[in-house]
Amino acid sequence: MKNYIKADEWNIIEEGFDPHLNKISESIFSLGNGRMGQRANFEETYTGETLPGNYVAGVYYPDKTRVGWWKNGYPEYFAKVLNAANWVGIEVRIADEVLDLATAEVSEFKRVLNMHAGVLERTFTAKLKSGKTVKVKATRFCSIADDEVGAIRYSITPVNFDGKLTLSPFIDGDVKNQDSNYDEKFWTLVSDEIIGTEAYIKLRTKKTEFEVCTGSNIGLYKNSEKLDVKIAEIRKEKFIGQTLTLDVKANEEITLVKIAANLSSENYSKEALLKETKAVIAKATAKGFDTLLKEQKEAWATKWEESDIVIEGDVSAQQAIRFNIFQLFQTYTGKDDRLNIGPKGFTGEKYGGSTYWDTEAYCVPFYLATAPQEVSRNLLIYRHKQLGKAIENAAKLGFKDGAALYPMVTMNGEECHNEWEITFEEIHRNGAIAFAIYNYIRYTGDEAYLAEYGLEVLIGIARFWKQRVNWSSNKQQYVMLGVTGPNEYENNINNNWYTNLLATWCMKYAAEAAGIVKSQQPEKYTSLLESVNFKDHEFADWADIIEKMYYPEDQEKGIFLQQDGYLDKEQILVKDLPASDRPINQKWSWDRILRSCFIKQADVLQGLYFFEEDYDLETIKRNFDFYEPRTVHESSLSPCVHSILAAKLNDEARAYEFYLRTARLDLDDYNNDTEDGLHITSMAGTWMSVVEGFAGMRVRDGKLQFNPFLPTQWKSFAFTIGFRGATLKVNITENGISIKNNNDVDLEIGIRNQIYKLAGNTELEVDNAELV
Ligand code: BGC
Repeated sequence: MKNYIKADEWNIIEEGFDPHLNKISESIFSLGNGRMGQRANFEETYTGETLPGNYVAGVYYPDKTRVGWWKNGYPEYFAKVLNAANWVGIEVRIADEVLDLATAEVSEFKRVLNMHAGVLERTFTAKLKSGKTVKVKATRFCSIADDEVGAIRYSITPVNFDGKLTLSPFIDGDVKNQDSNYDEKFWTLVSDEIIGTEAYIKLRTKKTEFEVCTGSNIGLYKNSEKLDVKIAEIRKEKFIGQTLTLDVKANEEITLVKIAANLSSENYSKEALLKETKAVIAKATAKGFDTLLKEQKEAWATKWEESDIVIEGDVSAQQAIRFNIFQLFQTYTGKDDRLNIGPKGFTGEKYGGSTYWDTEAYCVPFYLATAPQEVSRNLLIYRHKQLGKAIENAAKLGFKDGAALYPMVTMNGEECHNEWEITFEEIHRNGAIAFAIYNYIRYTGDEAYLAEYGLEVLIGIARFWKQRVNWSSNKQQYVMLGVTGPNEYENNINNNWYTNLLATWCMKYAAEAAGIVKSQQPEKYTSLLESVNFKDHEFADWADIIEKMYYPEDQEKGIFLQQDGYLDKEQILVKDLPASDRPINQKWSWDRILRSCFIKQADVLQGLYFFEEDYDLETIKRNFDFYEPRTVHESSLSPCVHSILAAKLNDEARAYEFYLRTARLDLDDYNNDTEDGLHITSMAGTWMSVVEGFAGMRVRDGKLQFNPFLPTQWKSFAFTIGFRGATLKVNITENGISIKNNNDVDLEIGIRNQIYKLAGNTELEVDNAELV
C-alpha cells in the first residue's frame, strides 16, 4: 500500500520524483481513447526502471500454448496484447549530454493527470552532470474526439546556460513485450518514410499480420514563434526520427509539438494505410495542438456530464471514483463493436488485453447508466459477432447442434487461455453473457434487440447448458459435473450452485425471449428458428431440466452450497488465518488452496446478486454471513458484489468497508501490483458499489428504483445517469434524495417502497422522513 498520490477532486497528482514509484505511476497516469493507449512513459530518454507500453486496440499476437502434458481441446494459443510503436519519444541533448531523469538531479517534479480534460502534464527541473539546468513542461493526450490522434507539447527552457540544444523526436517500432519468451519481437517493418517534419513507419505483426501505421508531424517554436530549423534524419532498425539542433539562450523557452497518428489494418486496407495516416496527420496538423486540445476538453466535458459522481466531504473518495470512471472511458468508448475491455485496458500487458466475463458482469451495468445506449449495445453485439466461433469452440469440446460456449478469454472469439480448469470448466461465463442481454433489455427496454441479435445468442447458450448437464439416476435430478465456478480456488467440482442456477436461468430466459420475439415479430421468429435449425422438442427439453435441476443446499444452515461436499472441508474463517499466510495465492501451494474452504471471490453470492429478486432478505443474509467470512477477496472483482449485498442487507458500515477495498486499489497500490497495469474491469465494480450499493439503484418493471443511504464519512453524493431518454441527476444527502430530470421525458421512479412521478424537466425531492 502506498500513499503518494495527492488528493484532489479532478486531478491525479504526483509531486517529487521517486524512481522506485515510476512504474506504478506509469500505470496510474496512463492515457487512452478506446482505440489506442499508453503507459505514462517519459518522452525523453529514461534509463531507470520503466515498463514501456503503447497499445493499439484489437492488435494481438497468438503466442503458442506450450504445456508439457498436452490435453485434447487445449486452445492453440494464448493471446498477447502487443506493445506497439512508441510515438511519444523525444530524445533531448544539451551539447553532448542526454537528458535522462535517471542520471540528472531532479527537482520540482510534478505529474498531473487532469481527468476533466483528459490531459497529462509533467513538469520538472533537471540539473545535468555538467551543472547545466533545464526546466521542462510536457503536455500530452490521446484524443478522444479523434481516436486515431495523439499530441505532445514539450517545452524546454535552459535555466543557467546558453548553448546547443538537440531535440530528436522519434517513433520506435523496435519494441518488445515484457512477457515475451526468449526476448522475441513481434513486429516486422513494412515501410518507413521521413518527409521533412513528417515521419511514418508501417509495421506488421508476425503470424496475425495486422499492420499498424504510426505517423508524426513536428513543429518547433521559440516563445511560441515558429522556427525553421534544419532537420537531419535518423534511421535505425524499425526506428525513425528527426534531429533538430539549435542554439538556445538562458530563459528562452523552446517548444516541440509532436502530433501523432496510429491507424491499423483493422480499419483500413493495408494498401491504403499509409495514405490514410498521412491524411489524418495532415488534418490534425492543420488544426494544431491548441485546437486538438480544445476538442479533447470538450469531448471529455460531455463524457463527464453523462457520468460524473460527485462526493462531498471526502476528497480522496471523490478523486478515486472519478479516476475509475475516467479510466473506464479511456479504455472503452463503445464506438466499435469489435472492441472490448481488457482487465488492464491500455495500461499493461497482463491478461493479454483480452475479453473476460468481467465485461458482461461488471462493465455493462456501468456503461448502461453512463453512456449512450449504443455503447452497451455494442458490447453485446461484440458477442453476437463471435457466436459462430463460440459454436466452433463448443464443437471442439464435443458439443453439437449449435451449442455455443463462449471463451473465457478471447481476442477474436477463439478461446485463447491455456489453463484447462478455466477454459474447459469455468463455463459460468456463458451465463454472464446471457445475463448481460437480460440486463441491457431490462435497463433500456430495447426488446427489439432480441430479434436482431439477442435470441440467437441465447439459443446457442441454452443449447450448451442442455448438453452440459446430465441426468443422475441416483438423484433423479439433473446435475452438472466438473466445473469451476467464479471462485477459481476450486476446480473440477460438481454442482456449483451458481453455475447450475445460471444454466437453468439461461434456458428460462431463452424461452421467454423466444416468446417475446414470436409475439412481436412472428416472421422474423420463424426465419430465425429455421436458420438455427431449431427443433420443436428443444423448449420441452429445457423445461424438463429447469424443473428437475439439482441445486446443492444445506437445509440445517439454510444456505446454498457452493458445490457438492463444500461442508466436508475444514471450516476455517479468514479472520483466523495468520496475516503471514495472505494472500494465499502467493503464500500457499495450489493444492492447499484447492483443499481449503477459502473462496477467491463472490460465487454463491454472485448468484444472489444477479437474482436477488428471487430470494428473501433472510436467505441472502444467511448466505452472506456464511460465505463472506470464508472469502479472501483475492480477485479485485470480489469486494463490490459484497458491498452491494451488504448495502441491501442494510449493513451500511460493511458496505462502505468493501467499497473502500477497491475504490483506491490502484491509486494507493493496495495489492502491490499497480506497476503491471490498472484493474480496469474492477473499476466498474467500484462504480456499482456507489450506485447499486449506496444508492440502491435497480430497475424493476421498467422503472428505476432507489434505496439509498449516505455513508457517514460523506456529506452527500450525487451521480448522473441516463435512463430511457432522460438524463437524471441523483443527489443523496443526509436529509434525503432528490432526482432532477433534465429531459422532456416523464418517468416513474421508485424510492424505497413508494412510486413517485417524475415529469420531464422537473425535480423530485423526497425527505428521509417521508421514506417508508
Ligand atoms: C478472476 C476472474 C476474472 C479475471 C480477469 C481473475 O483473477 O478470478 O473472475 O475474470 O481475473 O479479471
